[in-house]
Amino acid sequence: MSKIQQNLMSLQSYVLAEEREYPGATGDFSWILSAISLASKSIGNKVRRARIEDVLGDMGDTNVQGEQQQKLDVLSNEIIKACLGSRANIGALVSEEDETPTVLRSHQDGGRYAVLFDPLDGSSNLDVSVGVGTIFSIVRLGDGVKGSPEDMILNPASRQVAAGYVLYGSSSVFVVTTGNGVHMFVLDNSIGSFVLVKENLRIPETNKIYSINEAYADRFPGGYRDYLKWAHDNGYTSRYIGSMVADVHRTLIKGGVFIYPQTTDRPEGKLRYLYEAMPMSMLIEQAGGRSIAAADTRLLDVKPKSLHERIPVVMGSSEEVQNVERFLSED
Ligand code: AHG
Ligand code: MN
Ligand code: MN
Repeated sequence: MSKIQQNLMSLQSYVLAEEREYPGATGDFSWILSAISLASKSIGNKVRRARIEDVLGDMGDTNVQGEQQQKLDVLSNEIIKACLGSRANIGALVSEEDETPTVLRSHQDGGRYAVLFDPLDGSSNLDVSVGVGTIFSIVRLGDGVKGSPEDMILNPASRQVAAGYVLYGSSSVFVVTTGNGVHMFVLDNSIGSFVLVKENLRIPETNKIYSINEAYADRFPGGYRDYLKWAHDNGYTSRYIGSMVADVHRTLIKGGVFIYPQTTDRPEGKLRYLYEAMPMSMLIEQAGGRSIAAADTRLLDVKPKSLHERIPVVMGSSEEVQNVERFLSED
């Protein structure tokens, strides 16, 4: 595809073209992704104007995670729910910021998908202009699955069929997979569209970069500490931004490994399964990398039992994940 063609291939037309390759595809994804794309343009705007519009700072209360809610967390959450709420094929929305799912319509009334999202990831970095983002997962609800939206979303018959994130960095980057490779789009503000910049993105097999909050090292299980000692002795460099979306994006592009382990004070780790670890794992695997929650435990094989469940995360270049896994299995 020539450069000019590529840069005029919008997210919408790309997904529609991709769906045409699947007989019986109903345009469901493009309908949902266009809502996420619209929401992300609005959120990116708010993030960039945060200091001008004075929407920085916290709300003064905590969310279901027991974490300080930033004003922009709440605003981003409202924007996404408003954009997705009008999509007739969505049954339920699950947000990091809401204790329970937002039910839109039953399976019988056409609610065939749930969209799970972290409306604003890395929001503690907002006031220092460091990359933050939105992470999302599209789950096809199992046919004929009964019970509450929570039961339906957690039912093994329901499965993640698409995942992505939008990174509000020096540019707004939309990275998405619908199970057929990972594709990257950048918001061209001059035309107001996300345009294709990279098809079938592949994560480098290896790169001596690890990304972990080493301040907690004394609280990591021994296997992680042994890995870090090995990495220090083998010429690794450390890169840690503190926004998962920015750390994973760098890992996807440059290779290396992103790690958020369990600690003595957080025995399940910090990152949430459904709308952080699960979508990012699908992207990393679709790009040829690996994502584990422990030695010999593929993260996507773990079945979550609750909506806001947390899980340890080791994801990135397959060789780099293997290096960590070696020490975890000796632990
Ligand atoms: P969120 O802003 O959605 O709560 O997520 C923050 C997460 C994730 O973005 C990042 O990887 C991690 O918190 C950083 O945690 P530490 O500050 O403990 O390193
Ligand atoms: Mn987050
Ligand atoms: Mn968040």
